[in-house]
Amino acid sequence: MADTAKRGKKGRAKAAKGAKRMRLSQFWHPIATSEEVGGRPRRFTLLDEDLVAFRTDTGVTVLKDLCIHRGAALSLGEVRDGCIVCPYHGWEYDRTGACVRIPAQPDRPIPAAARAIAHRVEERHGLVWVALEEPIADIPHVPEGLDRDPAFTSEVFSVLEWATSAGRSTENSMDVSHFPFVHPDLLGDPDHPEQASYELHAEEWGQWFRVPDQFWRSVDGTANARITYVYTHVYPFTMHLHVTEDGDASGRVISVMVIASPTRARETRVFRIAFRNYAENNPNFVSDYLHILEQDRRVVESIRPEEIPASLKEELHIRVPDRSSIAYRRWLEQVDMQGVLEP
Ligand code: FES
Ligand SMILES: [Fe+2]
Repeated sequence: MADTAKRGKKGRAKAAKGAKRMRLSQFWHPIATSEEVGGRPRRFTLLDEDLVAFRTDTGVTVLKDLCIHRGAALSLGEVRDGCIVCPYHGWEYDRTGACVRIPAQPDRPIPAAARAIAHRVEERHGLVWVALEEPIADIPHVPEGLDRDPAFTSEVFSVLEWATSAGRSTENSMDVSHFPFVHPDLLGDPDHPEQASYELHAEEWGQWFRVPDQFWRSVDGTANARITYVYTHVYPFTMHLHVTEDGDASGRVISVMVIASPTRARETRVFRIAFRNYAENNPNFVSDYLHILEQDRRVVESIRPEEIPASLKEELHIRVPDRSSIAYRRWLEQVDMQGVLEP
């Protein structure tokens, strides 16, 4: 383990010499589900930055969870008349972060520097998204506009915290060759671990690929099918798994959007949203999915280093199954992972 950690640091140091064109803080990441943000302030974390989120009549406000006066956590305070009140000396901040009241000296002017740091926030797909810097990309789209198609419903069905980086979590979401080993007799046939080649399509926003004729069996063993996945990876950390049953002419589609949010260097909050155009006919869909994710978790959390190495020269890649991962790592080489990788 020590050796791999050492190799990882060396690789990062080497890669750090090249100019990084992008920072993770320039992308939108979800911090919470819309349901998790209400009228009481609550702390969330993104890229090692502690944030406070709360909801008022005008929407969700997200501020750095720090009062400029003496550094208390605003998330311990309360929301009053659309403002957040610091728990320590009662300074009040509006949704732009401006301090609008200092109770100890109400008649004196409020210093211009009395501000909390307000962040860009958007609600979409049932999640609260934050960009810590001016974003260079949109909130990840949903392929084929399923989020705007009235035939489809959407549901945030899982929020999990994993002790790994968002990159490792995302790689796991698009890794098909682990199925026969991590999910034997569920997503993969242990007697047939061979992986057929697939064509990778590079896009400005990421990549996508199609993997047909895959093994699937329900956890209770009562249903099985051959299925086709279309993986759509919107960089950096969103993966869509579009799933159809081979030979099924009914047009039923389920598409799962998986977003790994980099809370800390080695902590990831993973949100999953199901878009579907048919009534749920598998009452065990969520419990089966969580069963499979638990199989993934024990292996993925064991990976060292927890971060994806900054150079493709680290670790070993094989051509067929690792094709999408190699492309992803090439793209990551251009990204400053500050807040996700150790300095
Ligand atoms: S620390 Fe917030 S008001 Fe004093
Ligand atoms: Fe898996």
